[in-house]
Amino acid sequence: NSSKKVSIREVGPRDGLQNESTWIDTEQKIEWINHLSRTGLPYIEVSSFVHPKWIPALADAEEVLARIDRVDGVTYAALVPNEKGLERALRAGVDEVAIFMSATETHNRKNINKSIADTLPVLKNVTRIAKQEGKSVRGYLSTVFGCPYEGTTEQTKLLQTVEALMTMGIDELSLGDTIGVATPNLVEAVVREVTKLVPTEKMALHLHDTKGMAIANIACGLRTGVRKFDSSVGGLGGCPYAPGAAGNVATEDLLYLLHGLGYETDVSLNEIMKAAAYIQEKLDKPLPSHNLQSFLAK
Ligand code: HMG
Ligand code: MG
Repeated sequence: NSSKKVSIREVGPRDGLQNESTWIDTEQKIEWINHLSRTGLPYIEVSSFVHPKWIPALADAEEVLARIDRVDGVTYAALVPNEKGLERALRAGVDEVAIFMSATETHNRKNINKSIADTLPVLKNVTRIAKQEGKSVRGYLSTVFGCPYEGTTEQTKLLQTVEALMTMGIDELSLGDTIGVATPNLVEAVVREVTKLVPTEKMALHLHDTKGMAIANIACGLRTGVRKFDSSVGGLGGCPYAPGAAGNVATEDLLYLLHGLGYETDVSLNEIMKAAAYIQEKLDKPLPSHNLQSFLAK
């Protein structure tokens, strides 16, 4: 893949806030997302239509989605676990539905309260209805590179799950390093295997930075042809049902890498930095992003 164009999926408002115990007011979420919409980002995952008891920080998903100022060319997506979540997301006018499951049995059960076998028909139905409604569908596969409960991820099961998701007709598959345990050689090996089932145009990497490996892993992902990456402003993020999961790779750090390597994103690093500073102030704690901290120290 010789393309120099990279597409960033901003997941801060969803993956970032879902793990925070500080409640961010709906008004502030909207202001923040409106700012993100003006940075040049093509995709923003704005919230999550999961059960509000499971993720209280995003209990205002309907209101957020209804009240943000939508910018042409930006896809506003939300996480959807089942038919009930889909109904809510469609009513709220989501552009893209993001379904999710895990490659390992225990994380899948802890996260969505079902076995993998029982999850697949639900997601298949969600995808079918979403498509009927004219929505694109993104599929997240978690614990691709390791599981907080089972340790290593079994390759055969991983590939079977990838195949099952692709057969449903999803438009994009995001491979998740949920607890940030991958190293570059593993990323390369897994991406090469998955490429046998999924063209790289439909593949994204979603790398948490728990052990500081995300940037190295992205550099490796680029080498294997991946051109879509998920990231989170400020390096926010984590999964409350994956002990030890820390933030996603920071959007600012990802941009610094991409622009430094000569890739084009159409995203303004400076505007992203301001959006990161905004949410850091609201959360009232230093965020893990390297670029944000060096920007603020100036
Ligand atoms: P459950 O308790 O098994 O649900 O939860 P249920 O189907 O048995 O229903 C129980 C009740 O919940 C019913 O209400 C349903 O209507 C209601 P009742 O009849 O008792 O009054 N209900 C809902 N209400 C609102 N919205 C819904 C919904 N669904 C059912 N969507 C469920 C199953 C999936 C809902 C629950 O386990 C859940 O919400 N889990 C979400 C966990 C989560 O959000 N985790 C973090 C996101 S994943 C992630 O971060 C990884 C990722 O970033 C990639 C990576 O890093 O690897 C994507
Ligand atoms: Mg995640």
